[in-house]
Amino acid sequence: MAPVPRLEIRNLTRRFDGRAVVDDLSLTIMPGQVTCLLGPSGCGKSTTLRMIAGVEMQDAGEIWVDGTLVCDTVFRVPAERRRIGLMFQDFALFPHLSVAENVAFGLAGPAAEKRARVETMLDRVSLRRFIDAWPHELSGGEQQRVALARALAPDPRIMLMDEPFSGLDNRLRDEIRDTTLSILKEAGTAVLLVTHEPDEAMRMADDIALMRQGRIVQQGAPYNIYNAPKDKQTVSFFSDINVIRGTVRGALTETPFGRFLAPGVPDGQQVEIVIRPQHLKIDFDRDGSGPLPTAQDGTPARGTVIRARFMGRESLVEFRMDHDGSTIRAVVPNVFLPRPGKPLWLTIRRDRCFVFPVTG
Ligand SMILES: Nc1ncnc2c1ncn2[C@@H]1O[C@H](COP(=O)(O)OP(=O)(O)OP(=O)(O)O)[C@@H](O)[C@H]1O
Ligand SMILES: [Mg+2]
Repeated sequence: MAPVPRLEIRNLTRRFDGRAVVDDLSLTIMPGQVTCLLGPSGCGKSTTLRMIAGVEMQDAGEIWVDGTLVCDTVFRVPAERRRIGLMFQDFALFPHLSVAENVAFGLAGPAAEKRARVETMLDRVSLRRFIDAWPHELSGGEQQRVALARALAPDPRIMLMDEPFSGLDNRLRDEIRDTTLSILKEAGTAVLLVTHEPDEAMRMADDIALMRQGRIVQQGAPYNIYNAPKDKQTVSFFSDINVIRGTVRGALTETPFGRFLAPGVPDGQQVEIVIRPQHLKIDFDRDGSGPLPTAQDGTPARGTVIRARFMGRESLVEFRMDHDGSTIRAVVPNVFLPRPGKPLWLTIRRDRCFVFPVTG
């Protein structure tokens, strides 16, 4: 028997003023799986989460939890009976309640049972010692962990998180992210995490659903989305990019960097070759010529350094290319700071470039 998804969304749509803000969106999450909804501001991430939580009504589509219909356009399990935990950016604890009372907030049953549950949850986030403290006596990170304990105390089947870590400073954020993830995995909770930061999605997700204008445009493991992006926008969402244009002849595109394969692309079609700055190679000028062409790196093209910046772990070098005056950026590890005006040669790693037909 096929395993039953913890959460299944079928063709969910929400319109505001006639505009589909969430547009026929389908998504499946298994128990213990972390899926990230990743996308630019306004693409419909929070609206999706609100519908799953039951605080916003969809115009079409269904929500299923553990193989049971929870909500369609007619039938509706109320929000508080869905066993869905929420953690939003504004996670504020109740200031007038103690840590124990905050964690116990969503619990029912006899006081002794509730207290035991609160102790267990605070142990999990390593904050038992603060059980009788007030929220204002805790650091930001500690408050965040209490909020996590509060969200997990009623044992939700699904955890919805909307940019829950964005209020924390960098170092603390990494730590809390890792703690949160291991607790949720251990509990077998299905997680839908909303973020607009690709780094956060890559770090946390088993599965990334990349969203644009209310739709999921690509979904898969972080490695797959990063290395097999469907279009230029997807590549550029994860990193800075360089774009080289060419026209296809006989499934090949001729460029100053040599020929690129464009299988299945018709003759005369314009294509864009997209390459990340870290996948360019730089070589020195030897009396006006560069390194010899190779199968792996193609033909070198010459450019002049416009500026070079040291970024810590790497250096960013910007070139103006001889052949068309276009700008190309290359990132190299360590310190490499050639002077502006210096001619250098660039090659593009064939296995790291993406070739997309130009549309529209
Ligand atoms: N109640 C509402 N009435 C009208 N329009 C709305 C309403 N709620 C959301 N929208 C619109 O729907 C779109 C998507 O909003 P949503 O909050 O889902 O975006 P988001 O992806 O979470 O963005 P962000 O990353 O900025 O939080 C926006 O254009 C927003 O203005
Ligand atoms: Mg939002």
